[in-house]
Amino acid sequence: MATAEKTDLSLLATLRASDLFHDLTDSEMDDLLIHMRMIRTQKGFEIIRQGDSWDSFYVILSGRVSVKFRRGSKTFRRGRLGKGEFFGEMALLAQQPRNATVTSEEVSELLVLKKSVFDNILMKHPGRAQKIRRAYQDRAARNKK
Ligand code: CMP
Repeated sequence: MATAEKTDLSLLATLRASDLFHDLTDSEMDDLLIHMRMIRTQKGFEIIRQGDSWDSFYVILSGRVSVKFRRGSKTFRRGRLGKGEFFGEMALLAQQPRNATVTSEEVSELLVLKKSVFDNILMKHPGRAQKIRRAYQDRAARNKK
């Protein structure tokens, strides 16, 4: 627990309260803390652009982002995501380009995980993988409408 002990307690509390990370073992938490990156985005910052290639998965620690999906010449708002919610899973799972544009709606703090950490900490655990796959399926179904 050496890493976790040195980590900001409010970050740990936020991770422990989140749907995805509440049941990490101590060693998984250490792995996450070692490999994660945190970024702070300003209002209007484009975090992901539809069509880009993929490498990262994002969890919202604070703030809010909007999701917009473009088909042909039309743009569809796909709503907002806030604290504890995640995005960026679709391109990683499908190994296809990003299928929506995600923009910071206010100053936001995001946890960023590389695909290797996503695969090893999140997708190897059946419960976490199921939550992520379910979100993927719901979002893909909405984007087909
Ligand atoms: P990805 O395709 O990697 O990058 C854009 C992200 O936007 C996508 O993963 C999802 O995480 C998110 N996203 C796409 N469509 C929706 C939707 N309908 N509702 C919420 N989030 C979405």
